[in-house]
Amino acid sequence: MSVHSSAGASGPQKVKRLMAPDIQAKKGVEPIVSLTSYHAHTAAIADPYCDFLLVGDSLGMVMHGYETTVPVPLELMIMHGRAVVRGARRALVVVDMPFGTYEESPSVAFRNAARVMKETDCGAVKLEGGRRMAETIRYLVDRGIPVMAHIGLTPQSINVIGGFRAQGRVEAQWAAIEEDARQVADAGAFSVVLEAMAEPLAARITRAIDIPTIGIGASAACDGQILVMEDMLGLSPRVPKFVKEFGAIGAAIDSAIRGYADEVRARTFPTPEHTYAMKSGAPVAGEDPASAGTKSGRATKKPKTPST
Ligand code: KIV
Repeated sequence: MSVHSSAGASGPQKVKRLMAPDIQAKKGVEPIVSLTSYHAHTAAIADPYCDFLLVGDSLGMVMHGYETTVPVPLELMIMHGRAVVRGARRALVVVDMPFGTYEESPSVAFRNAARVMKETDCGAVKLEGGRRMAETIRYLVDRGIPVMAHIGLTPQSINVIGGFRAQGRVEAQWAAIEEDARQVADAGAFSVVLEAMAEPLAARITRAIDIPTIGIGASAACDGQILVMEDMLGLSPRVPKFVKEFGAIGAAIDSAIRGYADEVRARTFPTPEHTYAMKSGAPVAGEDPASAGTKSGRATKKPKTPST
Protein backbone atom coordinates (compact mmCIF):
# COMPACT_ATOMS: atom_id res chain seq x y z
CA MET A 1 0.00 0.00 0.00
CA SER A 2 1.16 3.57 -0.59
CA VAL A 3 0.59 6.34 1.91
CA HIS A 4 -0.81 9.60 0.58
CA SER A 5 -1.43 12.81 2.50
CA SER A 6 -4.78 14.47 2.05
CA ALA A 7 -5.70 17.74 3.70
CA GLY A 8 -9.02 17.65 5.57
CA ALA A 9 -10.75 20.02 7.96
CA SER A 10 -8.64 18.63 10.83
CA GLY A 11 -5.33 18.88 8.94
CA PRO A 12 -3.44 16.42 6.76
CA GLN A 13 -4.44 12.77 7.23
CA LYS A 14 -2.49 9.68 6.19
CA VAL A 15 -4.47 7.55 3.71
CA LYS A 16 -3.49 4.03 2.76
CA ARG A 17 -4.26 3.64 -0.91
CA LEU A 18 -4.47 0.08 -2.24
CA MET A 19 -2.04 -0.73 -5.01
CA ALA A 20 -2.08 -3.33 -7.78
CA PRO A 21 -0.16 -5.95 -5.73
CA ASP A 22 -2.70 -5.57 -2.90
CA ILE A 23 -5.47 -6.48 -5.33
CA GLN A 24 -3.49 -9.42 -6.69
CA ALA A 25 -2.85 -10.67 -3.15
CA LYS A 26 -6.58 -10.99 -2.50
CA LYS A 27 -6.87 -14.03 -4.80
CA GLY A 28 -8.00 -16.99 -2.74
CA VAL A 29 -8.26 -14.77 0.36
CA GLU A 30 -11.38 -12.62 -0.06
CA PRO A 31 -13.73 -11.52 -2.84
CA ILE A 32 -12.65 -8.33 -4.62
CA VAL A 33 -15.31 -5.61 -4.79
CA SER A 34 -15.22 -3.00 -7.52
CA LEU A 35 -17.39 -0.57 -9.43
CA THR A 36 -16.90 1.87 -12.23
CA SER A 37 -16.83 5.52 -11.21
CA TYR A 38 -16.61 8.65 -13.30
CA HIS A 39 -16.88 11.55 -10.86
CA ALA A 40 -15.28 12.69 -7.63
CA HIS A 41 -18.49 12.55 -5.61
CA THR A 42 -19.55 9.02 -6.55
CA ALA A 43 -15.95 7.93 -6.08
CA ALA A 44 -16.03 9.30 -2.52
CA ILE A 45 -19.28 7.41 -1.81
CA ALA A 46 -18.03 4.11 -3.29
CA ASP A 47 -14.50 4.34 -1.91
CA PRO A 48 -15.10 2.82 1.56
CA TYR A 49 -16.79 -0.24 0.03
CA CYS A 50 -14.60 -0.95 -2.98
CA ASP A 51 -11.12 -2.39 -3.41
CA PHE A 52 -10.70 -0.67 -6.75
CA LEU A 53 -12.62 1.85 -8.81
CA LEU A 54 -12.48 1.59 -12.58
CA VAL A 55 -12.73 4.69 -14.72
CA GLY A 56 -14.07 2.57 -17.56
CA ASP A 57 -14.46 3.71 -21.13
CA SER A 58 -18.14 2.76 -20.73
CA LEU A 59 -18.34 6.38 -19.53
CA GLY A 60 -18.60 7.25 -23.23
CA MET A 61 -21.93 5.39 -23.41
CA VAL A 62 -23.20 5.97 -19.87
CA MET A 63 -22.35 9.66 -19.55
CA HIS A 64 -21.60 11.08 -22.97
CA GLY A 65 -24.26 9.45 -25.12
CA TYR A 66 -22.00 7.49 -27.51
CA GLU A 67 -23.47 4.29 -29.00
CA THR A 68 -20.27 2.33 -28.30
CA THR A 69 -16.97 2.87 -26.48
CA VAL A 70 -15.04 3.18 -29.76
CA PRO A 71 -15.14 7.01 -30.09
CA VAL A 72 -13.96 7.73 -26.52
CA PRO A 73 -10.84 9.97 -26.59
CA LEU A 74 -7.88 9.65 -24.21
CA GLU A 75 -8.48 13.20 -22.92
CA LEU A 76 -11.93 12.20 -21.63
CA MET A 77 -10.46 9.26 -19.72
CA ILE A 78 -7.83 11.55 -18.21
CA MET A 79 -10.38 14.16 -17.19
CA HIS A 80 -12.65 11.63 -15.46
CA GLY A 81 -9.65 9.75 -14.07
CA ARG A 82 -8.45 12.90 -12.29
CA ALA A 83 -11.87 13.47 -10.77
CA VAL A 84 -12.08 9.90 -9.44
CA VAL A 85 -8.56 10.03 -7.97
CA ARG A 86 -9.54 13.26 -6.20
CA GLY A 87 -12.69 11.64 -4.78
CA ALA A 88 -11.29 8.23 -3.74
CA ARG A 89 -8.91 7.94 -0.83
CA ARG A 90 -8.36 4.22 -0.24
CA ALA A 91 -9.42 2.32 -3.36
CA LEU A 92 -6.98 1.65 -6.18
CA VAL A 93 -8.06 3.71 -9.20
CA VAL A 94 -7.70 1.95 -12.56
CA VAL A 95 -8.17 3.91 -15.79
CA ASP A 96 -9.21 2.27 -19.07
CA MET A 97 -7.06 2.83 -22.14
CA PRO A 98 -9.54 3.79 -24.87
CA PHE A 99 -9.68 2.26 -28.35
CA GLY A 100 -6.80 3.31 -30.60
CA THR A 101 -4.40 4.38 -27.86
CA TYR A 102 -2.51 1.13 -27.22
CA GLU A 103 -3.07 -1.52 -29.93
CA GLU A 104 -0.55 -0.18 -32.48
CA SER A 105 2.64 -1.07 -30.63
CA PRO A 106 4.00 -1.50 -27.10
CA SER A 107 5.79 1.85 -27.33
CA VAL A 108 2.62 3.72 -28.35
CA ALA A 109 0.82 1.96 -25.51
CA PHE A 110 3.57 2.99 -23.09
CA ARG A 111 3.48 6.63 -24.18
CA ASN A 112 -0.28 6.87 -23.70
CA ALA A 113 -0.44 4.78 -20.52
CA ALA A 114 2.38 6.84 -18.97
CA ARG A 115 0.41 9.98 -19.81
CA VAL A 116 -2.67 8.53 -18.08
CA MET A 117 -0.64 7.62 -14.98
CA LYS A 118 1.12 10.99 -14.78
CA GLU A 119 -1.89 13.18 -15.51
CA THR A 120 -4.43 11.33 -13.32
CA ASP A 121 -2.22 9.89 -10.56
CA CYS A 122 -4.14 6.61 -10.94
CA GLY A 123 -2.52 3.34 -9.84
CA ALA A 124 -3.03 1.14 -12.90
CA VAL A 125 -4.46 1.01 -16.41
CA LYS A 126 -6.75 -1.53 -18.06
CA LEU A 127 -6.68 -2.62 -21.66
CA GLU A 128 -8.75 -5.03 -23.71
CA GLY A 129 -7.40 -8.14 -25.42
CA GLY A 130 -5.82 -11.48 -24.59
CA ARG A 131 -2.98 -13.12 -26.51
CA ARG A 132 -2.69 -10.22 -28.96
CA MET A 133 -1.93 -7.83 -26.08
CA ALA A 134 0.46 -10.07 -24.12
CA GLU A 135 3.61 -8.45 -25.50
CA THR A 136 2.27 -4.97 -24.73
CA ILE A 137 1.25 -5.96 -21.20
CA ARG A 138 4.77 -7.27 -20.52
CA TYR A 139 6.30 -4.08 -21.99
CA LEU A 140 4.17 -1.83 -19.76
CA VAL A 141 4.63 -3.87 -16.58
CA ASP A 142 8.42 -4.03 -17.13
CA ARG A 143 8.40 -0.22 -17.32
CA GLY A 144 6.40 0.41 -14.16
CA ILE A 145 2.79 0.44 -15.31
CA PRO A 146 0.47 -2.09 -13.62
CA VAL A 147 -1.98 -3.55 -16.11
CA MET A 148 -5.41 -5.08 -15.65
CA ALA A 149 -6.35 -7.17 -18.68
CA HIS A 150 -9.87 -7.63 -20.08
CA ILE A 151 -10.98 -10.71 -22.03
CA GLY A 152 -14.19 -12.45 -23.07
CA LEU A 153 -16.51 -9.82 -24.48
CA THR A 154 -14.28 -6.87 -25.38
CA PRO A 155 -16.60 -3.97 -26.27
CA GLN A 156 -13.92 -1.98 -28.14
CA SER A 157 -13.98 -4.78 -30.77
CA ILE A 158 -17.74 -4.49 -31.24
CA ASN A 159 -17.37 -3.72 -34.95
CA VAL A 160 -15.52 -7.02 -35.50
CA ILE A 161 -17.62 -9.14 -33.13
CA GLY A 162 -20.87 -7.74 -34.51
CA GLY A 163 -22.74 -7.34 -31.21
CA PHE A 164 -22.55 -7.42 -27.42
CA ARG A 165 -22.68 -11.25 -27.16
CA ALA A 166 -21.77 -13.53 -24.27
CA GLN A 167 -18.61 -15.56 -24.89
CA GLY A 168 -17.77 -19.21 -24.32
CA ARG A 169 -21.31 -20.54 -24.43
CA VAL A 170 -20.14 -23.35 -26.71
CA GLU A 171 -17.20 -25.45 -25.62
CA ALA A 172 -15.46 -25.02 -28.96
CA GLN A 173 -14.70 -21.38 -27.97
CA TRP A 174 -13.10 -22.28 -24.65
CA ALA A 175 -9.53 -23.10 -25.65
CA ALA A 176 -8.89 -19.70 -27.24
CA ILE A 177 -10.32 -17.78 -24.29
CA GLU A 178 -8.39 -19.91 -21.78
CA GLU A 179 -5.23 -19.22 -23.75
CA ASP A 180 -6.01 -15.48 -23.59
CA ALA A 181 -6.26 -15.72 -19.80
CA ARG A 182 -3.04 -17.71 -19.47
CA GLN A 183 -1.06 -15.34 -21.67
CA VAL A 184 -2.16 -12.10 -19.98
CA ALA A 185 -1.34 -13.66 -16.58
CA ASP A 186 2.07 -14.84 -17.82
CA ALA A 187 2.73 -11.37 -19.26
CA GLY A 188 2.40 -9.84 -15.80
CA ALA A 189 -1.16 -8.46 -15.62
CA PHE A 190 -2.15 -8.14 -11.95
CA SER A 191 -5.76 -9.14 -12.63
CA VAL A 192 -8.10 -9.79 -15.52
CA VAL A 193 -11.68 -8.76 -16.20
CA LEU A 194 -13.84 -11.57 -17.60
CA GLU A 195 -16.79 -9.96 -19.35
CA ALA A 196 -20.02 -11.75 -20.37
CA MET A 197 -18.70 -15.28 -20.16
CA ALA A 198 -20.36 -18.65 -19.54
CA GLU A 199 -20.01 -19.69 -15.91
CA PRO A 200 -18.13 -23.00 -16.38
CA LEU A 201 -15.48 -21.28 -18.49
CA ALA A 202 -15.07 -18.43 -15.98
CA ALA A 203 -14.71 -21.02 -13.22
CA ARG A 204 -12.04 -22.95 -15.17
CA ILE A 205 -10.05 -19.80 -15.89
CA THR A 206 -10.29 -18.67 -12.27
CA ARG A 207 -8.88 -22.01 -11.15
CA ALA A 208 -6.19 -22.09 -13.83
CA ILE A 209 -4.47 -18.72 -13.38
CA ASP A 210 -2.79 -17.18 -10.36
CA ILE A 211 -4.11 -13.63 -10.80
CA PRO A 212 -7.62 -12.59 -9.72
CA THR A 213 -10.45 -12.77 -12.22
CA ILE A 214 -12.93 -9.89 -11.99
CA GLY A 215 -16.30 -10.91 -13.37
CA ILE A 216 -18.88 -8.78 -15.08
CA GLY A 217 -21.51 -11.18 -16.31
CA ALA A 218 -19.13 -14.06 -15.64
CA SER A 219 -20.73 -15.58 -12.51
CA ALA A 220 -19.89 -15.81 -8.83
CA ALA A 221 -17.07 -18.23 -9.67
CA CYS A 222 -14.77 -15.24 -10.29
CA ASP A 223 -12.41 -13.87 -7.63
CA GLY A 224 -14.18 -10.52 -7.66
CA GLN A 225 -16.99 -8.60 -9.30
CA ILE A 226 -17.42 -5.30 -11.08
CA LEU A 227 -20.52 -3.52 -12.35
CA VAL A 228 -21.03 -0.21 -14.09
CA MET A 229 -22.20 2.03 -11.25
CA GLU A 230 -24.99 3.71 -13.23
CA ASP A 231 -26.36 0.26 -14.18
CA MET A 232 -26.46 -1.11 -10.64
CA LEU A 233 -27.95 2.12 -9.29
CA GLY A 234 -30.91 1.86 -11.65
CA LEU A 235 -29.86 4.93 -13.61
CA SER A 236 -29.32 3.36 -17.04
CA PRO A 237 -32.33 3.10 -19.37
CA ARG A 238 -31.33 -0.40 -20.59
CA VAL A 239 -29.08 -2.86 -18.83
CA PRO A 240 -27.57 -6.23 -19.84
CA LYS A 241 -28.97 -9.47 -18.33
CA PHE A 242 -26.07 -9.75 -15.89
CA VAL A 243 -26.86 -6.45 -14.12
CA LYS A 244 -28.72 -6.50 -10.83
CA GLU A 245 -30.21 -3.12 -10.01
CA PHE A 246 -29.36 -2.53 -6.35
CA GLY A 247 -30.99 0.91 -6.40
CA ALA A 248 -33.70 2.88 -8.18
CA ILE A 249 -31.85 6.17 -8.54
CA GLY A 250 -33.28 6.92 -12.00
CA ALA A 251 -36.81 6.82 -10.55
CA ALA A 252 -35.70 8.90 -7.55
CA ILE A 253 -34.19 11.56 -9.86
CA ASP A 254 -37.35 11.60 -11.97
CA SER A 255 -39.54 12.13 -8.93
CA ALA A 256 -37.27 14.84 -7.48
CA ILE A 257 -37.16 16.78 -10.76
CA ARG A 258 -40.92 16.43 -11.25
CA GLY A 259 -41.45 17.80 -7.73
CA TYR A 260 -39.13 20.74 -8.41
CA ALA A 261 -40.80 21.58 -11.74
CA ASP A 262 -44.29 21.37 -10.17
CA GLU A 263 -43.30 23.69 -7.31
CA VAL A 264 -41.63 26.26 -9.59
CA ARG A 265 -44.75 26.32 -11.78
CA ALA A 266 -47.02 26.62 -8.74
CA ARG A 267 -44.70 29.32 -7.25
CA THR A 268 -44.44 27.30 -4.05
CA PHE A 269 -40.65 27.12 -4.39
CA PRO A 270 -38.58 28.96 -3.24
CA THR A 271 -40.13 29.61 0.15
CA PRO A 272 -38.75 32.09 2.72
CA GLU A 273 -36.63 29.23 4.07
CA HIS A 274 -34.62 29.24 0.83
CA THR A 275 -34.51 33.02 0.39
CA TYR A 276 -32.02 35.65 1.60
CA ALA A 277 -33.49 38.42 3.71
CA MET A 278 -32.00 41.89 3.96
CA LYS A 279 -29.84 42.39 7.02
CA SER A 280 -32.08 43.38 9.86
CA GLY A 281 -33.18 47.04 9.57
CA ALA A 282 -31.40 47.70 6.25
CA PRO A 283 -33.62 49.92 4.12
CA VAL A 284 -34.76 48.77 0.69
CA ALA A 285 -35.11 51.51 -1.95
CA GLY A 286 -38.76 52.20 -2.66
CA GLU A 287 -39.99 50.10 0.26
CA ASP A 288 -41.43 51.12 3.58
CA PRO A 289 -38.53 50.79 6.12
CA ALA A 290 -41.02 49.13 8.46
CA SER A 291 -41.07 46.12 6.13
CA ALA A 292 -37.24 45.88 5.77
CA GLY A 293 -36.11 42.29 6.38
CA THR A 294 -39.15 40.90 4.62
CA LYS A 295 -39.74 40.03 1.01
CA SER A 296 -43.11 40.58 -0.63
CA GLY A 297 -44.44 41.27 2.83
CA ARG A 298 -43.49 37.69 3.98
CA ALA A 299 -41.17 37.13 6.90
CA THR A 300 -37.84 35.59 5.81
CA LYS A 301 -35.48 33.32 7.73
CA LYS A 302 -31.70 33.25 7.53
CA PRO A 303 -30.67 30.37 5.24
CA LYS A 304 -29.26 27.32 7.06
CA THR A 305 -26.05 27.15 5.07
CA PRO A 306 -25.34 30.42 3.29
CA SER A 307 -22.61 29.31 0.90
CA THR A 308 -22.42 32.42 -1.24
O1 KIV B 1 -15.60 0.29 -19.35
C1 KIV B 1 -16.08 -0.43 -18.48
O2 KIV B 1 -17.02 -0.07 -17.76
C2 KIV B 1 -15.50 -1.76 -18.31
C3 KIV B 1 -16.22 -2.70 -17.42
C4 KIV B 1 -17.30 -3.33 -18.20
C5 KIV B 1 -15.32 -3.73 -16.83
O3 KIV B 1 -14.53 -2.07 -18.91
